Amino acid sequence: MTKILVNGALGRMGSEVIRTVVATPDMEIAGGVDINGAGKIVALEDGTNLEIYADLEKALEETKPDVVVDFTVPAVVMGSLRVILNKGIKAVVGTTGFTDENLAELGNICDSNNTACLIVPNFSLGAIMMIKFACEAAKYFPNVEIIELHHDKKLDAPSGTAILTAQKIAAVRKEMKQGHPEEKETMPGARGADYEGMKIHSVRLPGYVASQEVIFGNQGETLKISTDPVSRECYMPGVMLACRQIITRQGVIYGLDQVLD
Ligand SMILES: NC(=O)c1ccc[n+]([C@@H]2O[C@H](COP(=O)([O-])OP(=O)(O)OC[C@H]3O[C@@H](n4cnc5c(N)ncnc54)[C@H](O)[C@@H]3O)[C@@H](O)[C@H]2O)c1
Repeated sequence: MTKILVNGALGRMGSEVIRTVVATPDMEIAGGVDINGAGKIVALEDGTNLEIYADLEKALEETKPDVVVDFTVPAVVMGSLRVILNKGIKAVVGTTGFTDENLAELGNICDSNNTACLIVPNFSLGAIMMIKFACEAAKYFPNVEIIELHHDKKLDAPSGTAILTAQKIAAVRKEMKQGHPEEKETMPGARGADYEGMKIHSVRLPGYVASQEVIFGNQGETLKISTDPVSRECYMPGVMLACRQIITRQGVIYGLDQVLD
């Protein structure tokens, strides 16, 4: 049994993770932590009650989890990971918004504490396949733009998945700057964010979960590769897979594709 503590336990993703862990035979819920959790009790589907901690350090000491699953907010996740990893506990992270400096720091903390941290910008297997197929297409269609469409409660833009898609495409496509060499924005931001000459556009509207389209253009044709999750359940098989995989891993790992068979 792998004991899971969920950080961000009262949030949309955190509460879905708790439901999934309770229903997964090789997993056990050790506890939940949420900044708004002091004194709260969550009734679980197996008939038991889960006490929510407001203090991460206290929760780690009292519940002794094997893995912490973090779905909190970009502004606090690094602080939480310093606490978790410095205790030698493994972390699976869905919270987005990491910089290269953050990843380097986490790598050092993991190495000195003999632990592991798996950061996954998108746990949906559909999204992982979208990136894989987009990389294949980019070898032949180097002109590409990414449109990511999320619910309007999302804080960071562009999404971690859009950045990861752009990074993976940039690694395989011909280096180039797209669009007309003399193009000018008459409204700032009209052409979107730029990643190595590739444009990323972020849409924020109620009704979306976390869709993305990768659009390729070539002489006389376009190719679209897209993913449209309809509910947060789509992330749960990936979260459980990550919790199983992290047990035997070491260091910082970025992306679920890195631990797929
Ligand atoms: N990787 C993925 O596949 C994936 C999928 C969906 C969302 N996300 C990301 O996961 C994060 C959470 O998303 P959400 O929709 O569940 O958000 P949410 O706002 O519903 O939940 C966040 C929770 O974190 C809690 N929180 C805030 N600060 C905290 C702290 N210091 N300690 C403990 N808890 C704290 C909040 O009280 C809230 O309950 C976001 O960064 C989002 O972009 C990732």
